[in-house]
Amino acid sequence: MSALPHTLPHFRRMRAMDLDCIAIQEASAYDFPWTRGNFKDALDAGYDCWLMLVGSQIIGHAVVLFAASEAHLLNLTVAPDWQRRGYGRILLQHLINEAKPHKSELMLLEVRPSNVGALQLYSTFGFDQIGLRRNYYPVRGGAHEDAWVLSLVLIDPLAGAR
Ligand SMILES: CC(C)(COP(=O)(O)OP(=O)(O)OC[C@H]1O[C@@H](n2cnc3c(N)ncnc32)[C@H](O)[C@@H]1OP(=O)(O)O)[C@@H](O)C(=O)NCCC(=O)NCCS
Repeated sequence: MSALPHTLPHFRRMRAMDLDCIAIQEASAYDFPWTRGNFKDALDAGYDCWLMLVGSQIIGHAVVLFAASEAHLLNLTVAPDWQRRGYGRILLQHLINEAKPHKSELMLLEVRPSNVGALQLYSTFGFDQIGLRRNYYPVRGGAHEDAWVLSLVLIDPLAGAR
């Protein structure tokens, strides 16, 4: 497991004034990024939208939808220049911590099977594959790629909170 980064990040909630910056960061990290409008919709809908910062620089963002007893992780992104330094792990742990007051029993997410780095990250947290959505994601050239649905137990009724 990678050591903690030398410079620890802090977190704050996303605001409308951040949307232009987030859309640029998102576009730098994905072939098929969320749009500025997607993030605005998430903010307007009251989803948990987080920024991770080092100093005043935004280096990551994430969106979680809490519904019923589940925390659905919709977006988890570290800016490319800041990847592989331990920040993705810190951002994901922050989201898990934030799910506790919601008493979410599960964290759910979709991921491309080709996204080896993300899969490795989720695996180190103990996420398990619980499903598959066929032809869920677009890929370059017009074809589609399946999504794996992963789940992490946050509250085990037998063992207490994670
Ligand atoms: C996935 C993502 C959030 C990981 O963030 P990160 O800051 O690079 O991750 P970390 O440095 O905290 O890495 C934690 C662990 O994840 C795994 N990991 C992360 N990136 C990896 C890669 N490219 N290849 C292999 N393993 C990787 C490793 O196990 C790593 O631990 P290690 O450094 O001890 O080997 C980041 O790569 C990202 O934003 N990618 C683009 C957007 C994306 O795909 N988001 C996920 C959508 S489901």
